[in-house]
Amino acid sequence: MNENGLINRGRIHWFPGHMMKTLRTMQASIRQVDVALVLLDARIAHSSRNAEMEEIVRAKPCLYLLNKADLADPCITARWIEYFKRQGCGCAAISAKQKQGMAMIKRTIDQELSELLARRSVRGMTGTRIRMMITGIPNVGKSTFINTFSGGARARTADRPGVTRGKQWIAANGYELLDMPGVLPRKLESEQTASNLAFIGAIPDDILDIEELAAGLLGQLLQTCPKVLQQRYQLTEQELQLGAYEALECIGRRRGMMQRGGVVNTERAAVMLTDEFRASKLGRISLECPPIGESV
Ligand code: G4P
Repeated sequence: MNENGLINRGRIHWFPGHMMKTLRTMQASIRQVDVALVLLDARIAHSSRNAEMEEIVRAKPCLYLLNKADLADPCITARWIEYFKRQGCGCAAISAKQKQGMAMIKRTIDQELSELLARRSVRGMTGTRIRMMITGIPNVGKSTFINTFSGGARARTADRPGVTRGKQWIAANGYELLDMPGVLPRKLESEQTASNLAFIGAIPDDILDIEELAAGLLGQLLQTCPKVLQQRYQLTEQELQLGAYEALECIGRRRGMMQRGGVVNTERAAVMLTDEFRASKLGRISLECPPIGESV
């Protein structure tokens, strides 16, 4: 299953028409902003990038925000920040759900824009709001960030990727935020990128085969953090050597997910495993480390 599945055959393609429209809107709106905030998922800081989108926003100073840092391995997140900074890019880790990080973000934005703010101050434009475009893939936390940053429920958050559709400005003490709908890369760079996006829920589950998705995730976790799986699902050393689909059956059996005839309900097990990973019940796991010696 793992070798031949939907994800590993690279068949995921998800670029609905509204994403193309968003790219055009971004292109048309970038001149109106002072800075672009590029939200990435700290667990997949490479796969959650969108080169085409970044090409557009690079016309202005950009700040990379590694969101959902509360779900990611803090050591790997620190390495990602270093990686971005080494390339001369502003970067900070945040958890948009928590208010604490917001003062730090404001300080970082002001640092990024220090020259612009100084110029405005010379011209007596001290009250002028900083205009920021908020970008990122679907489900990365843009609405949550805007809600927290603006200190109120100004933008609707959603439990499904891609719900924020229209272009909207949100005023928040001294800032104006331009909320852009989420855009995935038009062409996914690799099968691994496609899988990573699916694992964290950036691609709607209903276009995927959930058992293949879970088997792909499990295959990766069996290689990178078998002890975590052993602890959470009481897998034996032998079971850790099994293929991903067989291991998924073992997990289902441990959790009592049986159907008639003593057969494991692997679909239920797949949903459970995926949900538990996404809710960080397995711990704070990052699926990608920074590359060595590559430019941003
Ligand atoms: P989007 O606008 O980019 O599409 O994303 P949105 O803010 O709707 O967030 C998508 C999901 O990610 C939401 O979960 C949201 O709560 C969650 N999220 C956003 N930022 C963070 C973060 O820093 N840490 C964690 N752990 N989660 C974050 P949900 O399950 O859809 O909603 P809810 O049940 O939390 O309300």
